[in-house]
Amino acid sequence: MKLTILGIESSCDDTAAAVLRGTGEAPVILSNAVRSQTDLHAAFGGVVPEIAARAHAEALDLMVEQALAEAGVSLAQVDAIAVTAGPGLIGGVLSGVMAAKGLAMGLGKPLIGVNHLAGHALTPRLTDGIGFPYLLLLVSGGHCQFLRVEGPDRFVRLGGTIDDAPGEAFDKVARLLGLPQPGGPSVERAALDGDATRFKLPRPLLDRPGCDLSFSGLKTAVLRARDDLVAAKGGMTEQDRADLCASFQMAVADVLAEKSRRALADADVTAFAVAGGVAANKTLRGRLESVTDLPFVAPPLALCTDNAAMIAYAGLLAFEAGRTDDMTLKARPRWPLDETAAPMIGSGKKGAKA
Ligand code: KG4
Ligand code: ZN
Repeated sequence: MKLTILGIESSCDDTAAAVLRGTGEAPVILSNAVRSQTDLHAAFGGVVPEIAARAHAEALDLMVEQALAEAGVSLAQVDAIAVTAGPGLIGGVLSGVMAAKGLAMGLGKPLIGVNHLAGHALTPRLTDGIGFPYLLLLVSGGHCQFLRVEGPDRFVRLGGTIDDAPGEAFDKVARLLGLPQPGGPSVERAALDGDATRFKLPRPLLDRPGCDLSFSGLKTAVLRARDDLVAAKGGMTEQDRADLCASFQMAVADVLAEKSRRALADADVTAFAVAGGVAANKTLRGRLESVTDLPFVAPPLALCTDNAAMIAYAGLLAFEAGRTDDMTLKARPRWPLDETAAPMIGSGKKGAKA
């Protein structure tokens, strides 16, 4: 049966609402509205949880209205409300959960709490219909993990970062080199004219077995290389900056490619997918695509980064499986997808990691 699901997302710095219609096998995104808070946090060098929560509370009903209008759907036509219930910045998640509860109660419609990471992890199925099981590498400003996606609510974490997420490292490197935020696109642009072999930067954790990752040492190595240049010459040239960006980007790509190879060797899957903002990086995509002969899926950017269509889709699959929540649904700052895996270290500038 075709269902119409309203999705709501507010776990970090994007307020989003989307309408999805169809079945788990054939979903259609009718609208996907996102309002970014980047400008509000720009002066602080990171997401300020209190500002984020207030901004979500102000924007949520507007985004829901916009998503419904763009979809040409009325609230009465919505079959269920899916909302991110964690993991994320608690104030933002609470804003979304409260808005969703209000709508569900007012309309007398079912409420479905969705794990934000499940939304990301199921996106390659939403966009490309790939079958289970597949390996997902989630790389963004707040997340970095390898997941074996076995079913709509069956995920096995094969490894993840023990400190920073790669997007955080890109953002930090941009700040160190005086490039604008968000750092990923700036570093990628600067790297186009750079020599990736000039600076010998570390490839953290490659000497250890398994597919856990670490990016904080790499960040520090870039800081040292910059300071050495400044000490030696009194400043940096455009070429120095480009070479450092290219060398950094190559180190990230080397690490992610090698760890992906290892994860694929153990995973026994039918496809390899990437998601998250960092997956927009062309050098990285190219390297990841080349590590396997399996089908490679990289969803379009608007569905790689935080959005509510992925939440509506995860909600649709849960609803089809007969799982709904009631008014006791809680906002969870931490909510690992794989409850059996050991907790990871570090919490990251964009809030708690699972
Ligand atoms: O998924 P996302 O929009 O938000 C979350 O973190 O959940 O990811 C944002 C991150 C930022 O750190 C940004 O610098 C990074 O993705 N990013 C990139 C590129 N575009 C965005 N990193 C590397 N290369 C890019 N082209
Ligand atoms: Zn996310």
